[in-house]
Order: sequence, then C-alpha cells, then structure tokens
Amino acid sequence: MKSGIADLFERPSSGTRALLVHAGARGEDPEREVEEFVELVRATGAEPAELVTAAVRRRDPRYFVGAGKAEELRGHVEAGAIELAIFNHRLTPAQERNLEALLKCRVLDRIGLILDIFAQRATSFEGRLQVELAQLRHLSTRLVRGWTHLERQRGGIGLRGPGETQLETDRRLVGKRIERIGRQLDAVQRRREVNRRPRRRSGVPVVSLVGYTNAGKSTLFNRLTGAGVHAADQLFATLDPTLRRMPLPAGSHLVLVDTVGFVGDLPHELVAAFRATLEETRQADLLLHVIDASGPDGLERAARVNEVLSGIDAGDLPQVEVMNKVDRRAGPTPGIERDDAGVVRRVWVSARTGAGIEALAAALGERFEAAARSRELHLPPGSGRLRARLYSLGAVLGERPRDDGGSVVEVRIADRDLVRLEAEANAGRPCEEAGAAGRRRRGRIPRRPRVRVS
Ligand code: GTP
Repeated sequence: MKSGIADLFERPSSGTRALLVHAGARGEDPEREVEEFVELVRATGAEPAELVTAAVRRRDPRYFVGAGKAEELRGHVEAGAIELAIFNHRLTPAQERNLEALLKCRVLDRIGLILDIFAQRATSFEGRLQVELAQLRHLSTRLVRGWTHLERQRGGIGLRGPGETQLETDRRLVGKRIERIGRQLDAVQRRREVNRRPRRRSGVPVVSLVGYTNAGKSTLFNRLTGAGVHAADQLFATLDPTLRRMPLPAGSHLVLVDTVGFVGDLPHELVAAFRATLEETRQADLLLHVIDASGPDGLERAARVNEVLSGIDAGDLPQVEVMNKVDRRAGPTPGIERDDAGVVRRVWVSARTGAGIEALAAALGERFEAAARSRELHLPPGSGRLRARLYSLGAVLGERPRDDGGSVVEVRIADRDLVRLEAEANAGRPCEEAGAAGRRRRGRIPRRPRVRVS
C-alpha cells in the first residue's frame, strides 16, 4: 500500500474487539455460515468479542437491520467496549455511515472484511497491485456518494488543488492511482503471457487447482508436487498462483497451478482485480476442483466456486472433483468415481494422509499420458475406413506398405480413442443392417480384418 491512499483505509489492528453481526441465512446451513464468518474475522486479526444474530425480513435502507435492532447493537457496543462492528453482509455506503454515526465505532461489511484479508495476505508485486486496485474500486463507489469523514481525515495533507473540495481531490487521486495500477498490471500481465507461451508450445498440460477457501488446495498441491507451499488452517493462505511440475505415472509431467481460494460473495471488485491471476485458471486444460468433503456444505460451496468460475469464463473447462479430507468422515473410500461412460468424474482423497493420491495421479495419467502414446498399427487390406479415420484425426505420424497390400501406420493416439476405433473396425460397421450376421455366416459379407497393435 502506498501512503496517502493507505490513509483512506482504517485497518483494524490485531486484537481489536469486534462485535459480529449476522442477519439471516444466505445458504442452507446457518451454523456453518456463522462459523465461516468468525473464521474470516479471525483472519483479519480482529478479536470476535460478541456475536449478534438477527432475522432480517426486510433490509432497512438506514441501518440494514431495523431501528430497534440497531439500538440493541449500540447497547452491545457500549457495554462490551467494542471498537469495531463487522457485518456478514454487503452494506451500502449510506448504511455504513449511518451505523458508524449511531454505534460510534468503525463499521466493516463483508466486502471490506474480505478485502482486508486479501490486503494482508498479498505478497507478490502483482498480488498487492490487484488488491489495492480492488480496494480503490470499492472506495471509489463510496467517495462518489460522499464519505464525509474521509474529507476530515484527509485534511491538512496539502495535496488539494486550487478551488477543489477535499472530496474532488480524493476522487482525482483515487482515479489517478487506479489508472497507474492498471498500467503496471498490464506490464506484469504481458510478462506473464510471455512466460506462458513456451509452456503452451511445448504441449505440457496445465492443470489448475480451484476450490473454496480452506478446502485443502495447498495441502494437495504439496502432496502432488512435493513442494513446500504454505498450507495453514487460515483462510486465503494462498493468494498468488504457484506453478510446479507434477510427475505423471508413465514418466511425463504436467504443470500444476495452485490458485487463490474462493469464498461466497467474493466481492466483484476482487474478481475483476484477480482476473489476471485467474487467467492461469482460464488457460488450464483441466480444473481439479478441491471440495472439503468432511463438512455438510461442501457441495454448496462448490456451487459458489462454479459461479465464480463462470464469471471468469472458466465455467466450461473440463473439471474433475477432488473430494478431500476423507480421513475426517466415515463412508467413502479413497479412489476414483466414474460416470456411465467411464470418464473420471470424482476422486476421493485425503491430502493430509495421502490416501487416494495415487488414484488421483493415475486419473491424471490416464487423461494426459494416454494422449502422448505412440505405437504402430498393422492394418490388413480392407482397413480403408479405419485408415481414413486415423488420418482425419491427425493421428498418423508415418506409414509404410505391407507385402499383403495392407500397411503399418505409426500413430499417436489416446488409449481410449484407439479402443473405440478398433472396436468399430473389428466388430463390424456400427450401422450394420439387420440380418448381416447371418449373411456373413453364409459368406456374403466379409468379416472385418483384425488390426494388430505393436
Ligand atoms: P486457501 O489458501 O484458504 O485457499 O486454503 P487451501 O484450500 O489451500 O487449504 P489448505 O491446504 O491451506 O488447508 C486448509 C486446512 O485443511 C489445513 O489446516 C490443512 O491441514 C487441512 N487439510 C487439508 N487437507 C486435509 C485432509 O485431507 N484431511 C484433513 N483432516 N485436513 C486437511
């Protein structure tokens, strides 16, 4: 954070006594929601001193909660020596301002809370720029509507232009800073693109780990790559994407990317700012969606992650769900779960104990290494259709004739595709008409020649 802009944000310092306000349920499991809220508050370094829950039927435009509840909050603040009130909801700038006037303490909403955590966690140059950009965007919406106490705060800095109000100066400064950060981010992103190009050219598959915060992405990343990435029971421990080589069972490798964790109501300012970081995710060949299978709301959280993925145009990428933390629940055994077509849909693992990790590596090998296998096919005469299909798939590397009029074709093709084509070739035409088997027995239709693979 640059000084000047940083003055505009009052960050709760560690140990700040906070009153937590959770009004109504967003999802299906209010208890887990409150638990997550408390975790988020702890992640900022604030001390959750009291929790007030309220059933909100109608969002009050003045205080978000009704006037009576707001009074009750004031009582808590006074009695509990509260220094900070944190709402687990998005507040309008006016509500934030009215609440601050009534409660006489700093008020933070869910967006401000998440932005604060990100601000503390960002370590790379790019990560810091992105968080600052998100904060500035969040702030600029508040400045537009007039944030009078900021005017007071900024007084005396001496940056005011002739004839400008403090508010105009603030807006101009924020606008300039946003522009500058935008330019800096452009430069970083161009460098990132340059780094990505050779990787794409080399054809090394890229697999991106995505998932709700605390699902276990970093722990899994370390398991799969042997890297020492920071894994902590702390929300958003990973902010910047980390890339590592992961060896596959048959000897090749892929690039595994660990990314920022998602959370419900991820501020749109942040999604926009993190687009570039998530670019790695958008370019991935496969997403491993890590889901905490030990809690009751794993799938609901997964749905929220999918919403964010759609928001960054990564909703259509192929996905395998990694159901993590099986060690913490009885029932599912570690291993692969396939759909009716035999495609891997889910792998049950424990990143902590390592159970199911081999199965996950095998699933990745099956997907990516199969495609890299080269072999020779001995095509007898009469295999014209199969040969044409191989050429149309772009799988043929070379061909030489056989004495019997057939040929030996060198191909590079995935196991699954080869099995499908072979089945087609050996078992007769898929659209073979009724009665063909009988006519074949009588010798009128020749049986398809067998293809030998070496
Ligand atoms: P963010 O950085 O917030 O996105 O979190 P993350 O998804 O990278 O989670 P991380 O790997 O930091 O793990 C979160 C917590 O879950 C840590 O305390 C881990 O030790 C724990 N954890 C991860 N995998 C497992 C598992 O398989 N079993 C159990 N019991 N705990 C796990």
